[in-house]
This record gives sequence, structure tokens and C-alpha cells, in this order.
Amino acid sequence: MKNNQFYWGTGTSSFQIEGAFNIDHKSPSIWDDFAHKKGNILNDDNGDIACDHYHLFKTDIALLKELGVNSYRFSISWPRIFPNDNFEVNELGIKYYIDIVDELIKRNIIPFVTLYHWDMPSYILKDGGFENRQIVEKFKKYVEVVVTRLKGKVKNYITINEPQCVVEQGYKSGTHAPGYRLTSDKRCLNIVHNILLCHGEAVRVIRNIDPTASVGIAMTANVSLPIREDEELIKKVKEKYFSIKKSSFYGVSLYSDPVFLKDYPKEYYSIYKNILPDIKKGDLEIISTPIDFCYQNIYTGNLYDLSKNHHLINKKWSKSTLEGTLSWLKFAPESLYYGPKFLFERYKKPVIISENGFCEDDRIINGQIVDTSRKLYISSYISSLEKAREEGIDIRGYFYWSLLDNFEWAYGYQKRFGLLYVDFSSQKRIKKDSFKLYKEIIKKHTGDR
Ligand code: FCB
Repeated sequence: MKNNQFYWGTGTSSFQIEGAFNIDHKSPSIWDDFAHKKGNILNDDNGDIACDHYHLFKTDIALLKELGVNSYRFSISWPRIFPNDNFEVNELGIKYYIDIVDELIKRNIIPFVTLYHWDMPSYILKDGGFENRQIVEKFKKYVEVVVTRLKGKVKNYITINEPQCVVEQGYKSGTHAPGYRLTSDKRCLNIVHNILLCHGEAVRVIRNIDPTASVGIAMTANVSLPIREDEELIKKVKEKYFSIKKSSFYGVSLYSDPVFLKDYPKEYYSIYKNILPDIKKGDLEIISTPIDFCYQNIYTGNLYDLSKNHHLINKKWSKSTLEGTLSWLKFAPESLYYGPKFLFERYKKPVIISENGFCEDDRIINGQIVDTSRKLYISSYISSLEKAREEGIDIRGYFYWSLLDNFEWAYGYQKRFGLLYVDFSSQKRIKKDSFKLYKEIIKKHTGDR
């Protein structure tokens, strides 16, 4: 992988790191409201201060430079840009992001901007959030302002982060903001459709303003994995990865097929035939407006074998498998081999791993954080990615999640994914051993820079 065109980066998101929740005219987002309600977040943590990245971004970018990444993915907080629904731009909000971008450019780091990483302005939710199609027009206006103001500085945009989790966790299980517990598939399908419309229209806005920009949307799903290298098993596992299941809004194809293949999967129309959303003429054209990359957040996978009569059976991960502190996050490095391979074969777009990371119980011992599991995770996953690349899968980037320990949504500050340990009482950053390892890996692949 000695290729300077490869994007080596890390990622963060606005709500998880910025803090400054009511500073410089920012209005509340649905995550502020959700976290301020008792009982929603572990230990009743909130994002009021988070990593105080709002004030410490220069320090953090200096650390990014030290890490040796050539790219950095971060997101913009919509309610910082438009605190009210009167579409008046908050100059202080936009200035903050211009300052970040300038700081990155100064240090030769390519900015990758996510436009929506879950912190929707509260006033948009009052009007129905993603349940109301009018959100599309509002999102377009916001995107237009951001892209116009960052033109010439930012070349890479991600419209939306993980629509899968927005629907499943935000609107179905209610563990994420806005905390709805919808039982109606019809309402969920409508949300899916409106999110995809927001994406498609945003692509058009970006293309109009800056035809040279690259655009994508960051999807996610556990990768379906074969327990051994067997042709029939691999074929079936791949079908599984792209299958859809009634009442489940996780998965790849429900979202990525309309985006890349201009239609929902065939089964969608049969499974949901009586409750389809209002798909207007032209909607699928909008949603499938061509994009440049297939961004995928991949953390783990589900393991399968074949039964005697050749059906797929789900296998449990063995006990000896390296365990993090989140039960869903199984150590499955093959995910970064099969995931990009399956995605590239189906959608034929260059793949970028927009998130991949590990959460462990980091402790400071003699001033050091010896995060052995995270190190093993990173090196094994990157080896799998390299294997896929060597076999000709077009993979253009890898973004470790996350640069910093941060507000891990419903888990508050208890779950740590960072390469940098954050002491949340002093805001001190400490380089974990994995920081040093990732630095070495990048150096090895890019040469001394
Ligand atoms: C992803 C989110 C990201 C982070 C990681 C651990 O689902 O996109 O913000 O919380 O999980």
C-alpha cells in the first residue's frame, strides 16, 4: 500500500467532541435535549463540554499532525450554522469551521467534512424531523451555506453519517436522540426515504457549487463473514450481507441500492408492499445522483457456516476472541477484507473505510496507556484491508475512529475509542500506545513525510 493517494486519517463528530453547547449563538440540537433528560445517557453525561474541542481544536490538530495522518474527518453542527429556522447564518458558527479547515490545510491535512452526524437542530425536530419531507429543503439550504463558504478549501464531503443508526437507534429503539420508539414500519420507511432524499439533494447542491468536490454518504452494517474459505459459503454470506429483513432498518442494501443502483432492493417492494412510502416520480433519480466514493463504517461482523442442507447458520464468536467493552464489537478483522470486497463487487465504487475502531477499558499506569487490545485490533484490521487491496479491490482510505476519547452517545464518557486518552476533568490529552502504533503504520505506508 505504498501509495500517497491513500487517505490515512482519523474521525470525530461535532457533538461528540466540541462541547460549547450554547456558546456563540449555537442553539440546541436534539442530542443536547436528549442528553439533558435524566436517564437517557449512562451516568447522565451530556455534551455540554465534551472534549472542549471548540476551544482546543488547535491543540488537537497539532496532535493529528504528530500522528502523521494526511486526512481528517470531522462533522459540522447544523445548529451552529443555522441556530434558528429563519435561515440567518451564524457567522461565528461558520467561522469556527473555517478556522478548523485553515488549521488543517496549514498542516497539510486534507479535510473530510460530514454534514450530518446526528446533531439535528431541535427546531427541525419540532417540525417532524426526518418524518417530514420538508426537511429536505431545509437541509439543502444548510448544505448550500456550508459548501459555499468552504469552497476552495474543502474538497471532500460526506452528506450523512449512518442512516441505519439514525432509524434504528433514533427512531425505533429510542436509545439515541430523538428517542422515539416507533413500532410502525411505515413511518420508518418514510424516514429512510426522506434521509436518502436529503442525501441526494445535498449531492446536487454540492456539485452545483463545486463541481470538483468529491461526495459520498457513510453507511454502516456488520459484515456477514464466512467461517472458512469455501466458495458456496462465501457466495451465500455475500447474499446475506445484501439481504433485507422485515422490520429491520440496519443493513446495507436498503440504503445503498437506491444510492448506487437507483432502486430499492427487489424484496423491499414485496416485503412492504402495502406500506410503501410516498416515492414520487424523480425521487430515485435524486437519490442516485452519482457520487464518488462508497464510504463504509465497519467495526465488526457476523459469522456464518453452512448447515448440512446448505443453509446459512449463524455461529457464535468463540470465547477466546479479544473482547472490548462493548458487547456488539466482536474482534473480526476479516470484516475489512470481505466488507470492502463485497461492496466493491456490488457497487463498483472506490471504497473508503470512514470509521473503524475499538473500545477498551483504558487505564493510566505510570503515566502510560498500554492498550494492547486496541493495538492488535488496528494492526489486524489494517492487514485485512491490505489483503483486499492487494487482490485489486479499489480502496482509497482508512479513518480510525476516533482521534479522541469522546461522548460515546448513550454510553456517555464511559466508552473510550480514542487514540488519545482524554482526562475529562482537566481536558488533558495523553497519547495511548495505539497512537504510536498507528503512527508507525502510517509512516510505513507513506514513507517519512
Ligand atoms: C458509530 C458512530 C460514531 C461512533 C462509533 C463508535 O456508529 O458513527 O459516532 O460513536 O459508532
